[in-house]
Amino acid sequence: MDKLTISGGKQLYGEVSISGAKNAVLKLMAASLLTKGETKIYNVPELTDVTIMLSVLGQLGVKTSYDKVEKSVVLDTTNLTSIVAEYEYVSRMRASFIVLGALMGRCKEAIVALPGGCAIGERRVDFHIKGLESLGAEIKIENGYVHAKAAKLTGADIYLDIPSVGATENLMIASVLAEGSTRIQNAAQEPEIVDLANFLNVMGADISGAGTSEIVINGVNPEDLHAVEYTTIPDRIEAGTYMAAFIGTRGKGIIRNVNPSHLTFYTSKLTQMGAKIKLIEPNAFEVSCDRRLTGLNIVTQPYPGFPTDLQSLGMALLCTAEGVSIITESLYENRFMQVPELRKMGADIHQERNHALIRGVNSLSGANLRASDLRAGAALVIAALMADGYSIIDQLHHIDRGYELLTTKLSAIGADIQRINDESDIIADNIRGVLDGTAKI
Ligand code: EPU
Repeated sequence: MDKLTISGGKQLYGEVSISGAKNAVLKLMAASLLTKGETKIYNVPELTDVTIMLSVLGQLGVKTSYDKVEKSVVLDTTNLTSIVAEYEYVSRMRASFIVLGALMGRCKEAIVALPGGCAIGERRVDFHIKGLESLGAEIKIENGYVHAKAAKLTGADIYLDIPSVGATENLMIASVLAEGSTRIQNAAQEPEIVDLANFLNVMGADISGAGTSEIVINGVNPEDLHAVEYTTIPDRIEAGTYMAAFIGTRGKGIIRNVNPSHLTFYTSKLTQMGAKIKLIEPNAFEVSCDRRLTGLNIVTQPYPGFPTDLQSLGMALLCTAEGVSIITESLYENRFMQVPELRKMGADIHQERNHALIRGVNSLSGANLRASDLRAGAALVIAALMADGYSIIDQLHHIDRGYELLTTKLSAIGADIQRINDESDIIADNIRGVLDGTAKI
């Protein structure tokens, strides 16, 4: 299993270009199932989650290809050969569950494995199921699979108890080919929802209101839809991660290919902490920090609030900020998996259910660390870059799900980071650490 080694305490300088948004592109790929033909999507990051989605679609009969140089996928959805999304895939990546809405739209029947909980929380799918039932689907849950079927789907008013991103996406996709109008109220407003609605509209759908709490989908006929070419949005969470890298190491850098309006709340919190963030071009930020950050409170909220996916990154920064900070995680039951690892580095964090109280320490020190999930893992990378000394981060496959070319991008801005996959490499790296006095063994 691959590991990361990081020798921290170096200020980072330079430029980072942000990749396409994982959480947008996966849904566009699933939505391509609605129509026949060759869909081409650009700005697709080379990530394991993208590979898993390609496998899910391949198993349904879609002919898929990925061009690493062009960063594009081609999905030929002309002939579907199956309506079953197997547990093997859905259990590896919850986003595969979004094929449910697309298969229901196109085939009016789908059998999709239930994703179950994961490290960060229970992550139920009851809103997806209730919403599809409102559209006229009959749903049975058997042997761990959702079996949904309908003679036809009919538009309906759907109210979501929580503005769930996945439920909004599944229901929006399914409603495109429903008869009549569907209104999703208390819809999620994330930029990824807007991207999906734009993609579907280019395909021939009639969707309005995406990006607000009420989305209206006027059903169209299958012959109104056609395969499209489309470029997805930049990954706001990846951008937020590199902003944290520059700020946490008191460096200075430019983040390119970013949509600043997607990061307003995060940017405002970083500025309140003491970072300097300047828009230098419509799609580029300059980020710097030349002093110790100031502690503050963060409450995660659905968009446009502070994103839960950047909560762990905010925590890494606050570990060495002056004063006391409180982070409240309000979306997931178990999204503080980074806390025990940050404590190993000397952080002073007291956790009580979904609240974490952080007393800023002067500095963190390198340690042997374990990434438990994607964003907790990213926080450990930032903490290791900030820390004095040497860190090893294990369970790298979690981080690989969401960060394209992580070591290449960080090395290019001056980080001492390496990916190693052999025990002897780690021993050699530890010896190097002993020699330069930074090892923690
Ligand atoms: N929820 C329910 N019932 C449902 C659906 C959701 O109770 O039917 C609850 C969940 O358990 C959770 C909350 O509602 O507590 C929010 O879940 P949501 O459905 O909004 O999240 P998601 O669609 O499963 C996406 C992202 C997550 C991101 C969340 C929130 C993808 C593939 N995943 O998940 O991204 O945290 O929205 O913004 O788009 C990540 O990238 O690391 C990640 C976890």
